[in-house]
Amino acid sequence: MNLSLEKIINAKLAAVFNELNLNPQFAAVKVSDRPDLSDFQCNGALALAKAEKKNPREIASTIAAKLEQDADFAKVSVDGPGFLNLKINDVLIARVLDGMAADERFGCEKVSEPRKIVLDSGGPNVAKALHVGHLRSAAIGEAIRRIEIFAGNEVIADVHFGDWGTPMGMILSEIILQDGDLSKTETYDINDISAFYKKANIRCKEDETAKEKARVITAELQNGNPEYRKAWQHLRKVSVDAVKVNYDELKAHFDLWLGESDAHETCAEIVKIADKQGVSEVDDGATIIRLEESNKPKPPVILVKSDGGYAYQVTDIATIKMRVDDLKADEIIYVVDKRQSLHFEQVFEVAEKLGIAPGVKLQHIGFGTVNGADGKPFKTRDGGVMNLEDLLKLSKDKVRESMPAPGEVEGYGEAEIEKLVSQIAIGAVKYQDLKNNIASGYVFEIDDFAKFEGKTGPYIQYAIARINSILRKAGEIKPGKVMITNPEERDLALKLMQLNNIVLRTHEAKEPSIISDYAYTLAQAFSSFYNTSPIMSAETPELAASRLQMAKLVRDVLTLLLYLLGIEAPEVMLKKAGEA
Ligand code: ARG
Repeated sequence: MNLSLEKIINAKLAAVFNELNLNPQFAAVKVSDRPDLSDFQCNGALALAKAEKKNPREIASTIAAKLEQDADFAKVSVDGPGFLNLKINDVLIARVLDGMAADERFGCEKVSEPRKIVLDSGGPNVAKALHVGHLRSAAIGEAIRRIEIFAGNEVIADVHFGDWGTPMGMILSEIILQDGDLSKTETYDINDISAFYKKANIRCKEDETAKEKARVITAELQNGNPEYRKAWQHLRKVSVDAVKVNYDELKAHFDLWLGESDAHETCAEIVKIADKQGVSEVDDGATIIRLEESNKPKPPVILVKSDGGYAYQVTDIATIKMRVDDLKADEIIYVVDKRQSLHFEQVFEVAEKLGIAPGVKLQHIGFGTVNGADGKPFKTRDGGVMNLEDLLKLSKDKVRESMPAPGEVEGYGEAEIEKLVSQIAIGAVKYQDLKNNIASGYVFEIDDFAKFEGKTGPYIQYAIARINSILRKAGEIKPGKVMITNPEERDLALKLMQLNNIVLRTHEAKEPSIISDYAYTLAQAFSSFYNTSPIMSAETPELAASRLQMAKLVRDVLTLLLYLLGIEAPEVMLKKAGEA
C-alpha cells in the first residue's frame, strides 16, 4: 500500500484526468492553504483552461463530478475561478495512518538512485579552540549527514582539518623563540599549544620579521623538513584529540580525519596539470590561475605562493581531486561560513577548468553568523570570542537551573542529572541553530533558547517524554487500529502524514529548518489532540487503543525528527518542583 496520502490523492486525480482526456501533467495536488475548506487542493483546471482556452470552472466541475463518485473523497468542491478543493474521507486517513504505524520507516521513501556524498563540515584548525562558528558547521553538517543517509544516500563526512597553513609556521616559530628549539614540543598539551598560537598571532601582527620567519618555516615544513614535521605531528595530534572531545559532545560524527596536509602531494599534481593545460601563469613569483571575469571581477586563484608554499585554495582544489579519484564522490558538499563563498566559487571554477571532477556536483552551503542581541557576532560577556566550550557551559548552566537537585528525584543522582542536563543543553543549542534558515544568521536567544515552551529543542524533547509517560501508564491498553472521531485527531493524523514529504523536501533543499519547523508544529498538534481527546478515559476501548496508537506514532516520528537533527531524545524529562 502507498503510504503517502498525497501520492494516493495524486494518483486518483491523474486517473480521472486521463479518463477525461485531460493532460495529467496538471493533476498535481498540494496540501491546502485553507484547511478550513479542504485537505488538498488542485489548481490544475486553471492552467489547463488557459492552455486549451476553455472555461476553468467548467473543466473543474467535470473533474469534480468524477471525483465525487470515489468514496475516498468526503467532499469535492469547485471554488473561485476554478480551484478544486478536496476533503478526504476519514476512513482513508485512518487506513493510511495504520500503514504508517506498521512501517519501520513510517512511510518515508528513499531516493531512487543513491549517490555518494562527501561532506566537508568541520574545518577546525590546529591549536585553535572551536568557536561558535564551528557549532554551525557541526550542527548543520551532522543534520545533513543523517538526513542524506536516511534518504538512502551514502555519506562520507571528512573533518578537513586546517593543519597546513601559515599558523603552523607561526606556532613552530614561537616555540623556537621561547624555548630556543623544538625539543620540548612533545611535552605540550592543547592549552600550551593554544597559548603559543595566541602569542604568535599577536607577534606576527606587530612584527614583519616574525611574520616573515613564520612564512619561511611554513614553507620548509611543507617541503619536508624532518624536525619541523616531527613537532608538527605532535601539534596536530593534540589538536585532533581536543577537537574530538568537542565533536563527541555535540554528537557530530566524522568518518575521516583528514586535513589540508593530506592534500600536499596532490597539490603538486594540480600545479602540474594546470601548467600542462596552459591555464596557470607565474605572477610576481607566485603560480596563479586567472578566472573568467565576464560576469563579475574575481581575483585570481593562487596555487603556489611566491615563497613556494601552497595556498589555502590549492589544498581545496587538490582535495576535490582526491575525493573524486579515491572516494569516488558523486557530490561534494561544503558546510562552511558564507563569508567563504568567493573562495568556493573560485575553487569550483578551477576544478571545472582542470576537468578534475567531471560530472561531480560541487556545492557550498554557506551559513550566516551567530549574533548577540546587538546584531554583531556573539561574544562573551567581556567581549572576547565565544568559544564553543563557553557556549555549551552557558547552555548547561541555564538548563541546570530548571533541574531538580541530584538526589531529589529517585534514581537521579549527580551522574543522571548531568547526563540529562547535557542532552537538553546540547539539544537546545543545536535546535536553536537548526530552526533558522541556514544562510541567514541568527541572534542567540540567551533567555529563551533552553525554555520548555516555545519553538525550542527542550519543548520537543518534552513532548516525547510526555508521550513516553502516557505509554508507560497505559498498562493493559495496547495501541490499536486508528479511527478518526474528532477534528483534533483528524488534524494530527493529517500532520503526521506529511512526514515523507517533509523529509524529502529537507533532503532536496539541504535545509534542516524544514524538519525543525515540522517537528514543532507536530508537537503542537499533539498538544491540542491530547487536550481534547483523552486516552485512558476514552468512550470505548477501541478509541483508547486508536488514540494510543496515534500518540505512539507522534512519539516515534518526533524521535526520528530529532535524530535527523542530531539531537537526543531523553526517555524522561525532569523539572524542578514548582516549575510549569
Ligand atoms: N579551516 C578553515 C577555516 O577555519 C575552514 C575549512 C573549511 N573547509 C574547506 N574545505 N575549506 O577557515
